[in-house]
Amino acid sequence: MFKFSSLFSKNMAMDLGTANTLIYVKGSGVVLNEPSVVAYNKDSKKILAVGTDAKKYIGKTPRHIKAQRPLKDGVIADFVITQAMIRHFFLKIQKMSRFFKPNVVICVPSGITQVEKKAVIDAAEEVGCGKVYLIEEPMAAAIGAGFDISKNRGRLIIDIGGGTTEVAVITMSSVAYCQSIRVAGDEFNESIIRYLLQKHQIYIGENTAEKCKIEAGSAFDVPIEPYTLIGKDAVTNNPKEITLAPEEIRAAIENPTRAVVEAVKRALEKTPDALVTDIYDEGIFMAGGGSLLKGLDKLIESETKIKCTVTDDPLLAIVKGSGIALENLKEYKKVFIN
Ligand SMILES: Nc1ncnc2c1ncn2[C@@H]1O[C@H](COP(=O)(O)OP(=O)(O)OP(=O)(O)O)[C@@H](O)[C@H]1O
Ligand SMILES: [Mg+2]
Repeated sequence: MFKFSSLFSKNMAMDLGTANTLIYVKGSGVVLNEPSVVAYNKDSKKILAVGTDAKKYIGKTPRHIKAQRPLKDGVIADFVITQAMIRHFFLKIQKMSRFFKPNVVICVPSGITQVEKKAVIDAAEEVGCGKVYLIEEPMAAAIGAGFDISKNRGRLIIDIGGGTTEVAVITMSSVAYCQSIRVAGDEFNESIIRYLLQKHQIYIGENTAEKCKIEAGSAFDVPIEPYTLIGKDAVTNNPKEITLAPEEIRAAIENPTRAVVEAVKRALEKTPDALVTDIYDEGIFMAGGGSLLKGLDKLIESETKIKCTVTDDPLLAIVKGSGIALENLKEYKKVFIN
């Protein structure tokens, strides 16, 4: 796919997300796309698996092993584990040497605090990066979607990740308004878990809930087949099969989908009229994995009366946008926030 040796001198862009980490290497494109999960031995602290291999451990580990997601709500929650994860991913794509310090563009949620920013920069520097440039996720998504962000024209971008949903109005290479809520794809999964326990007395794990959401979850009345899953009966502890109607799953995730819509409405309310007129003409754009929830675009459209479109490859748009900024550092210098 790419020349291994060519990676030695290349700079990188990284979307260090709550759910997934993606790395873009200058000249090669996206070279890594794995879940942000680390499995380690709790006693010896030895790392056992990272990324795709570690995600399989979630909910299935013996007592001495922990499968952990080191980022929460878009920011670093466990510094040491995050660093170990980044180091592992870097080693996977290139042999980092003490003499090689790649510059790196890293996406962060908008509205990130100074302390949270510093943690990202420190983690990157400690695993051997040179210069670190931070870019806000909705800005990266807008660049990744191919918009000319330098134009004097308002655009509304929604990035729905695993941990955060960000609604940003972008104009002239800046974020004019941003509303960030800590409700996104993870919360949709947790709502399904809670609903099944409360309504049907069935326990399911995170991975089962995510699969159910992806295959049969929706935010609007769109055609979907009933969905069958197997969980654990909370009373008998035996395995139990249940078939859920799509309406039932929609109701289970209604609170978090409503929260996303309310964030969009708040953003429109707070945005100056002239920019709202641009947004009405251009439409709303969504990126991030959570934007793939069936019917979410239709729900936003019906509530705002503005056309809403999911960008191509919404799971890759943010890292691709960061990659474009990396390839054209001078042109995009205004978009970096550190
Ligand atoms: N087809 C789909 N339908 C619904 N949700 C999906 C789909 N595909 C992925 N997701 C969800 O998208 C989320 C991950 O999206 P993404 O990779 O953009 O998040 P992230 O960047 O890691 O998180 P954050 O930006 O909050 O730090 C997960 O919650 C996942 O379940
Ligand atoms: Mg993200």
